[in-house]
Amino acid sequence: MKYDTNQLEINKVQKSKIEEVNFDNLVFGEIFTDHMFECDYVNGEWQNPKIKPYGPIQLAPSAKVFHYGQAVFEGMKAYKDEDDQIWLFRPDENFKRINKSSARLAIPEFPEEFFFNGLEELLKLEKDWIKKGFGNSLYIRPFVIATEECVSANPATKYKFMIICSPAQAYYSGEVRVQFSEKYSRAADGGVGAAKAAGNYAAQFYPTNLAKEAGFQQIIWTDANTHEFLEEAGTMNIFFRVGDKLITAPTSDRILDGVTRKSVIDLAKDLNIEVEVRRVKVSEIVEAARKGELKEIFGSGTATVINPISGFGYKGEKFELPKLEDSYGKSFKDRLMKIQYNQAEDKHGWRHLVK
Ligand SMILES: Cc1ncc(COP(=O)(O)O)c(C=O)c1O
Repeated sequence: MKYDTNQLEINKVQKSKIEEVNFDNLVFGEIFTDHMFECDYVNGEWQNPKIKPYGPIQLAPSAKVFHYGQAVFEGMKAYKDEDDQIWLFRPDENFKRINKSSARLAIPEFPEEFFFNGLEELLKLEKDWIKKGFGNSLYIRPFVIATEECVSANPATKYKFMIICSPAQAYYSGEVRVQFSEKYSRAADGGVGAAKAAGNYAAQFYPTNLAKEAGFQQIIWTDANTHEFLEEAGTMNIFFRVGDKLITAPTSDRILDGVTRKSVIDLAKDLNIEVEVRRVKVSEIVEAARKGELKEIFGSGTATVINPISGFGYKGEKFELPKLEDSYGKSFKDRLMKIQYNQAEDKHGWRHLVK
């Protein structure tokens, strides 16, 4: 079925609130732009796409999202180059992934025409919120929730697809030390780990709080069956550099197929860096650290691009990683950002111009 994008209704704010925002002091995810995109699923069809002023939505207390957690989301960014052009990075991947997440949670898939038309019209309206400069961006949060008023435990017949946007600055997370998980799990075989399902994140908060009390900022999750294999972090895929080789876990139904992860793998291949995509044993990483062969661990994800990890803990022991001049993580971050900001050749065709 072809969806008619002429249906998009745009209702603009009378006065922008942009002047009230201090763009030099943004806390990630706290400020939202003037408008949002909204589209409803009713009578078996996605309909009435609209852009309207950002603001609260009304839901019944019986809306299924509150009871059974039918909710999925995405995270992507828009960047502005020196000529005021707006770019997205591999947005087709986020579009495919939100529908994959939806399918896993029995949520109807969203039409591609509505997604790109809604997103691009929204970005054009919010162009002044996307600031120039390396590191500045507009974080984009598409999400879907079940809105049907009914507490019977089966898939809803009504949903809302929305996109909200939040201006973001270059993000420095400080030194990040991670704990390798020994007890708790994020995902299991046959579960929803590969979906960006809201509940996956809720379930991480408690064990992450325990890790924080023990002096770590994040957890690297291990496989639920044996806790012997390293999988991913809360919002990042994870790479290990042992010697000059990169190792990362394969995606599976437990691990999110990260856009940054797959881009790093492609860039590594371009640079003739050996990458092994295979299960990563906790014991081999601990042993490599003891021998001084573990040179780097870094996370990859849209929010920070590449997040260096300065140390890790396992079974009560703490390991520190060396500070490298020739860090792979730093080099990938620089290369990826130059592509995102239209400052370098994009030989893989990852950039998408918002016209
Ligand atoms: C669990 C999880 N893993 C990995 C990632 C990184 O994915 P991406 O590179 O697509 O942002 C994210 C963030 O989206 C995430 O939530």
